[in-house]
Amino acid sequence: MIRETSSGAFIFRYSKGKISFLLLQRKNGSWDLPKGHVERGETLEETAMREIFEETGLRPKIVSGFSISTSYKFKREGKLIDKKVIFFLAESSTAKVKVSEEHSGYKWVSPDKAKSLIGHKNMITPISKAHIYACKYLNIKKLNFAYALLPKHIKNWGLSKRLVPGEGPLDAQVMIIGQAPGRSEDKLLRPFIGRSGKLLDNLLFRSSIDRDKVYITSAVQFFPPDNRIPTKEEIKLCYPFLQDQLKIIRPKFIITLGRIPLGVLFPKGKLALLHGKSISSPEYTLLASYHPAAALRFKKILKIAESDFESFGKILCNRQ
Ligand code: URA
Repeated sequence: MIRETSSGAFIFRYSKGKISFLLLQRKNGSWDLPKGHVERGETLEETAMREIFEETGLRPKIVSGFSISTSYKFKREGKLIDKKVIFFLAESSTAKVKVSEEHSGYKWVSPDKAKSLIGHKNMITPISKAHIYACKYLNIKKLNFAYALLPKHIKNWGLSKRLVPGEGPLDAQVMIIGQAPGRSEDKLLRPFIGRSGKLLDNLLFRSSIDRDKVYITSAVQFFPPDNRIPTKEEIKLCYPFLQDQLKIIRPKFIITLGRIPLGVLFPKGKLALLHGKSISSPEYTLLASYHPAAALRFKKILKIAESDFESFGKILCNRQ
């Protein structure tokens, strides 16, 4: 048996409140997604982008955090081929497509229509997953757009006016919620990339939690000048946006870092009593620990945070 790998993408458009996927029609009449062989030296994403351009003339934007793999077997010149295909998700801003010689046409279709036109059983779940992920992506984009405008609507806004968006896969099972971005985060507009972020990376690594699989955000997503603690009013103003993120991502586990995010989700919770434990609710399991900034300042807190994360690693490994 010969093993081959291809890479391609679900290309979607959002127009008039609907998501549609791009399908290409082969000369034999069958419908497919843009995809092709991975060439030597190419990453899977590079292959997908090259194939998309060759087959459609489009250069859509890859949506980070999504990839799905399918496999099927077929015969070519009497030999059995075991084909693995990895699909990414990409957003196109245009509907105009220039199909390659290999194809006779194209169509933008609803997810259900895509399932029936492609017709392979093993594509039903990938199409559903790509559709769900595209919805989450559009919802988060809309949310971040509205959140970034918050400083414009509030008199005497006292935080940075630059939103630090949440980061990570939109279907993450684990969400980490910090307090508020620091100076480095405000500069690069990415959460937990400064000194606290390095310590968080270390805590995650020690507990075998993969940062790339976690969605990371903060209770307040604007830098408080001089690294001050956000006020009650500021936390309250940002809370609806945190709630909306929770509704979109729907994590099974939430790790709160410090008393501010714990207080937001569990107002009566005392960090000194709850850290390292798991608190279940119908929607998610809450895991609380100290903020890495506090752990950087006090050795005692660092030891507690390390032991909390060790417990979290075990809990996640058993229940994910
Ligand atoms: N501390 C936080 O709470 N959030 C960040 O994004 C960075 C540091």
